[in-house]
Amino acid sequence: MPALVLLGAQWGDEGKGKATDLLGGSVDYVVRYQGGNNAGHTVVVGDQKYALHLLPSGILSPGCTPVIGNGVVVDPSVLLSELSGLNERGVDTSKLLISGNAHIITPYNVTVDKVTERFLGKRKIGTTGRGIGPTYADKINRVGIRVQDLYDESILTQKVEAALDVKNQVLTKLFNRRAIAVDQVVEELLDYAEKIKPYVADTVLILNQALDDDKVVLFEGGQGTLLDIDHGTYPFVTSSNPTAGGACTGAGVGPTKISRVIGILKAYTTRVGSGPFPTELFDEDGEALRRIGGERGVTTGRDRRCGWFDAVIARYATRVNGLTDFFLTKLDVLTGWEQIPVCVAYEIDGERVEELPYSQTDFHHAKPVYEYLPGWQEDITKAKTFADLPKNAQGYVKALEDMSGAPISAIGVGPGRDETIEINSFL
Ligand code: GDP
Ligand code: IMO
Ligand code: MG
Repeated sequence: MPALVLLGAQWGDEGKGKATDLLGGSVDYVVRYQGGNNAGHTVVVGDQKYALHLLPSGILSPGCTPVIGNGVVVDPSVLLSELSGLNERGVDTSKLLISGNAHIITPYNVTVDKVTERFLGKRKIGTTGRGIGPTYADKINRVGIRVQDLYDESILTQKVEAALDVKNQVLTKLFNRRAIAVDQVVEELLDYAEKIKPYVADTVLILNQALDDDKVVLFEGGQGTLLDIDHGTYPFVTSSNPTAGGACTGAGVGPTKISRVIGILKAYTTRVGSGPFPTELFDEDGEALRRIGGERGVTTGRDRRCGWFDAVIARYATRVNGLTDFFLTKLDVLTGWEQIPVCVAYEIDGERVEELPYSQTDFHHAKPVYEYLPGWQEDITKAKTFADLPKNAQGYVKALEDMSGAPISAIGVGPGRDETIEINSFL
């Protein structure tokens, strides 16, 4: 059965873009199922580097049809500029399909995101400021604008009016901002509508027919398990479901169709924005991980917070996603340490805890319990097979696999497509 989900097992930026691109040549469809242009997925092809925010990473594989599913939130201005940026670099984007049920990030959603964060002050989430949370809030409040609404001016005007009725009260009276004019928003959206029209399709029907025809479909998650609105470190999360179930709701494909769920797992841990992070480092090791790993946000340019590998989180990701495999990335970044600490459990208020606590308070109190694994000094970026890795690097991978609860089927030893050790085939 040819439907695979590929998702982040930590707090995002695990290397999903590279992993998706790697499989892109062998699959028929790559589908984004949640999130929006808060994502920043880096793909390196030869000497070319691409940063994708909204488009599925499969867009770089000529044989593959990229799909933006109903669960995604679409900022039309970002979509169009990302498409033209790729076209200028010679990438054919004409096969793109966008669900008519995907929700639109309107200019007022972006404004609300920014002013809300400012209003929260110290308690801010540290969002990407792209309007993600407010757009999903409108969707749940049933005042959202969908892609299909762009094609009926009267309906669009009514919907924008309904959304702005309340928002303008909040913007003017609470946030002391100017009201947003309905006409101006409608005009802007109508301008995008025509440009997007060729891509709009019934993606649910197309994907289900493709699966019936034994085509291979890859669902590409944005963000990561610990940023999931239901299963992450709420409230320091994004406003969608990057976890495996999100692929079903965000693409309209039943769970019985999914055959494999691959968790992308960085060999250490990073996080962007606010929220608890038990293995975070504030010393020179954290600085070294940031420098060697190039840990700077693709979307916002913020420095990523860095820390050691956390096996409690990896086990949790295995459980809530039903992971069948891991793709371990950035092992090369750990070259050069004499020994590498790995968090195997937490100590919470004096007690050893093996699994992620469900209580936010407990998680905030969690201190990492470390085991120290022997490091390696050899360059591993040219390794092609597991046997090419130095003994201690092999030991590190095996230890992470044992702790995390699913087989590690591929290992990244560099950002390029070919800098990958394949252990078990994903297809
Ligand atoms: P994503 O959001 O999960 O797609 O990840 P990002 O693109 O935000 O961040 C991952 C970064 O690590 C990118 O710069 C990738 O090019 C890079 N990368 C991915 N896999 C590897 C790897 O195995 N080794 C190294 N050194 N870099 C990698
Ligand atoms: P990729 O797909 C890392 C974080 C933000 C913030 C929180 C909420 O590249 O892994 P939002 O704008 O979504 O409302 O912000 O989520 N965040 C990410 N962190 N990688 C991402 O995407 C992220 N997308 C959102 O930093 O803490
Ligand atoms: Mg990223």
